[in-house]
Amino acid sequence: MLLPLIDRPFDLPVSLRLAPVTFGPGAVVQVPIEIGRLGARRVLLVTDPGVSASGVAGRVRDLIEASGVITGIYDRVPPEPSVASVEVAFDAWKAGAPDGGSYDAVIGVGGGSALDTAKGVSIRTANDGPVSKYFGVELLPARGVPYVLVPTTAGTGSEMTPSAIFDDTDRQLKAGIVSSRLMAAAAIVDPDLTISCPAHVTAAAGLDALTHALEAYVAVKANPISDMYALEAVRLVGMHLRGSVSRGSDRVARTGQLLASMYGGITIVAAGTGLCHAMAYPLGSAYKVPHGMANALLLPAVIAYNIPGDVAKFARLAEALGEPVAGLSLSEAADRSVEAVRRLSRDVGMPSGLRDVGVPEEALEGFVQGALSASRLITNNPRVPTASGVLEVYRASW
Ligand SMILES: [Fe+2]
Repeated sequence: MLLPLIDRPFDLPVSLRLAPVTFGPGAVVQVPIEIGRLGARRVLLVTDPGVSASGVAGRVRDLIEASGVITGIYDRVPPEPSVASVEVAFDAWKAGAPDGGSYDAVIGVGGGSALDTAKGVSIRTANDGPVSKYFGVELLPARGVPYVLVPTTAGTGSEMTPSAIFDDTDRQLKAGIVSSRLMAAAAIVDPDLTISCPAHVTAAAGLDALTHALEAYVAVKANPISDMYALEAVRLVGMHLRGSVSRGSDRVARTGQLLASMYGGITIVAAGTGLCHAMAYPLGSAYKVPHGMANALLLPAVIAYNIPGDVAKFARLAEALGEPVAGLSLSEAADRSVEAVRRLSRDVGMPSGLRDVGVPEEALEGFVQGALSASRLITNNPRVPTASGVLEVYRASW
C-alpha cells in the first residue's frame, strides 16, 4: 500500500492540543484527585436521566463527596442538547450547591450530550448567553470555570476536544463552538463505566467514533499524526464494536471500543471531520435523529461519493476494517470500504435507511443547504461537494 504523502508542514503542538487524559479500567477513582487538583469545594455534576438511573452518576458523586467536596447533580440533559437546554442546566448552576454555597467547578458524566452540556455550563459561567453567540472558531471571549469530563459511552470523543455542538432550535441549525478556551481540565476515560451502556446506544456511539476516524483519515487537514490515530481507531472499531454491542459485559471489547472513541476524539482535534457530519447535523436538528445514528445511516453513501477524492486512502480503510484486499486494484479495494461499513452497521442493529427513522423523502432537498453551510466541515472534505451531489447522497441513504 502507498505511504502517506507529506505535502505541507504540520505543527505537532498545535495540531494535537488535547485534554490531559487518564485511560483504563478503574480510572474513575482518579476523579476526586483531579477535582482536588482544581481546588474546587463545590462541584455541579451534569448528566442525563439514563446515566443517572444506571447508578454511574451516583457512584461518581459518592467518590467526590468522600473526598469532602460538596456535589450537586443536574440529571436532565436531553438527547441532542440545544442552546435552550444549556440555559436550563445553567439555571441549576446558578441555584447553587446543596449547602447554599456557590459551585466552582463542573463535572460532566455521560455521553456526548452530557459532556457538551457540561462545557456549555462552563461557557456560561464567564460569558453571556445564549451560547449560539459563540458558534464558530475561536469566538469565545472568556474561559469559564474548569471542568472534568467522564464519558460513559464510546463514541463522542468529546472528552478530548475543545469543541461543543448544540442545536439552535429557533434557526433549525446544529453548530459547534470551537475554542482553545474550551478544553477539559482533565478527562477520566474508564471502560468499566461503559458496561451499562445499552446495546442500541453502544452501536450508534460506536459508529459515530468510526465516522470521526474515517472522515479525519481522508480529510484535507489530515497529516501523518492524525492518520496514525485514525487508522488505528478504524481498526479497533472493526475489531470491537460487534462484541461491545452483542456482549455488553465484554471488558476487552469495551476497552478496545473506548480506546477507538478516544483516538477518534484526537483525530477530530488533529484533522477534523467532513461531509458526513455536515449532512448529519440537519437530520439531528429537524428530525431529532440521534447523532451517531444519523452518521451511520449516511456514512456508506458518503464514502461512495468521496472515493474519487482519495482512492488510495479508502483502500487502506477497507483493509483496516478487515476486508481481504490482497490482489485487488486500489479502486476495487476502495469500493470494499463501502460494503464493510454497511455490513458493520447492519450487524450492530442500525436501521437500513433514513426512511426507517421517520424522515420523509420530500424533506431531503431541504437539508442540502444546511449541510453545505457547515463550511468548516465542507472545506475539509476530500471531494468538493456540490448541491446535487449532496442530494444524491441523502437519496441513496433514504
Ligand atoms: Fe460525531
